[in-house]
Amino acid sequence: MLIAGLAACGGDGGSGSGSSDDKITMGFAQVGAESGWRTANTKSIQEAAASAGIDLKFSDAQQKQENQIKAIRSYITQRVDIIAFSPVVESGWDTVLKEAKDANIPVILTDRAVDSKDTSLYKTFIGSDFIIEGERAGEWLKKEYEGKTDPVNIVELQGTTGAAPANDRKEGFAKVIGADPKFKVIASQTGDFTRAKGKEVMEAFLKANPKIDVLYAHNDDMGLGAIEAIEAAGKKPGVDIRIVTVDAVKDGMQALADGKINYIVECSPLLGPQLMDLAKKVVAGESVPQRVLTEETTFTQEQAKAALPERKY
Ligand code: AHR
Repeated sequence: MLIAGLAACGGDGGSGSGSSDDKITMGFAQVGAESGWRTANTKSIQEAAASAGIDLKFSDAQQKQENQIKAIRSYITQRVDIIAFSPVVESGWDTVLKEAKDANIPVILTDRAVDSKDTSLYKTFIGSDFIIEGERAGEWLKKEYEGKTDPVNIVELQGTTGAAPANDRKEGFAKVIGADPKFKVIASQTGDFTRAKGKEVMEAFLKANPKIDVLYAHNDDMGLGAIEAIEAAGKKPGVDIRIVTVDAVKDGMQALADGKINYIVECSPLLGPQLMDLAKKVVAGESVPQRVLTEETTFTQEQAKAALPERKY
């Protein structure tokens, strides 16, 4: 579920020259297919476009910024009515966003933010607050170890280097646990949001660190890869090493229900319907909120058992 937030931004909207019929054409530059979350997000966007009657041109950047920039430039050349994209990393977008603006093609950011100072380069941004997600993971940890004084050794699997969810989930978590000196992040490395890299990096963490109490993984997929490494090392995930992740995709929720993960902070990938509504308004020149925030929750092992039968992704 999504809620609109903050101030409305300019309704001068306008679009590229677009197609000759009434159908809106959207160019969407996706990050890649790195995780279960991303697969669900792509499905949500494709299904929502079909049911909103929007002609979707879709590209997969395979987690590479240069591929996304190429895709956006090609959408500008094709004179789509609107461009939407989920930026792989936060920085380095000003030039291509300016090209879209100069071509009078509006842009919507979905899922991830850019660090451009000039917010007129895009019409709106729909997605989660990743700092809050990191804080929620930290709050859970604080509660788990309340009243205890022994050092807690934490390893962190970060998302893709430079990506907004990697930066912000790290920041939010560090802010919450930083106030208590018993929490020590003894290793922190990127696992690129993938299962394979999560496993590989966790194997290295296990070899280098004899005492790991907690794993904080920036997404379920890296956590699931790490679980394989922990089991291969003869340890019990969720018991010998406590695990907190972000996303709450089905596989993650299953591992949580099975006791292999201890807590999941939800991040919703179901952005498609709201994106299509916003796109229609922007193309029609109507005002839209500058920020549309995704509403999310958290899951304990018991809550995961209850939610799993209804989980859509
Ligand atoms: O940007 C959202 C993040 O990207 C998800 O948490 C992660 O699974 C995905 O790859």
